[in-house]
Amino acid sequence: MKIGMFDSGKGGLSILTEARKLLPYENFLYYGDSLNNPYGEKSDEELLKITSSIVDYLIEREVKLIVIACNTATTRCIKKLREMYPNIIFIGTEPAIKVACDHNFKNTLVMATPATIESRRTSELINNNKRDDQNIYLVSCPGLAEAIEKDDKAQVKLILKEVLRKYKDKGIDSIVLGCTHYPFIKKEILEEMPNVVLLDGALGVSKEIKRQLEIHNLLNNSNVLGETLIYNSLDKTTNILK
Ligand code: DGL
Repeated sequence: MKIGMFDSGKGGLSILTEARKLLPYENFLYYGDSLNNPYGEKSDEELLKITSSIVDYLIEREVKLIVIACNTATTRCIKKLREMYPNIIFIGTEPAIKVACDHNFKNTLVMATPATIESRRTSELINNNKRDDQNIYLVSCPGLAEAIEKDDKAQVKLILKEVLRKYKDKGIDSIVLGCTHYPFIKKEILEEMPNVVLLDGALGVSKEIKRQLEIHNLLNNSNVLGETLIYNSLDKTTNILK
């Protein structure tokens, strides 16, 4: 059996890459929902409709657990998806706010989609982890995931300049990449904000996949390297990832 994973396009590939390194003998089926990108500017109702149909697709293909490789879908829908599919093991992706606080960063900027920034879960993560001597700034980045998805480098630079301008004099020491598309523009972010540490959830999520597979006795005990299939909803093709 394989591990199902999805995101609104290529963003979740940042998680998939790390997960394949940690779990080389597992098979993966990655659903890249480029057709519905961007998720971060959709209503909860729309998101639940989209994500539940992807969950149905993955269940039909007999996945053993589902990784929501998307901060937006996790912070807005994971609770409802767990209620709708009580027998499915879901693993979510959340902004690495706990990691920033645990590592004693003093001024952390969280970059994410509007839906993630405005989610109750993001406030919970701050309330549960931030100490009084730490500052956490939230910056909503409309259009950024879409520009990354379309590989529109000029637009990426324009948006970064605009959204990061206000934070240049805040002594920012870490940036949480609260959208799985953002690890693909680390270089561009560092050009705008040099000397910050970038934090993303890829390793944390991969370790959680391993832990859940172990707990549920679902690890693939083969010693043959696993296969990774990539489906894309825009052109409806499935390809093998080498
Ligand atoms: N990559 C996704 C996330 O982590 C969604 C981006 C989008 O489609 O807006 O939030």
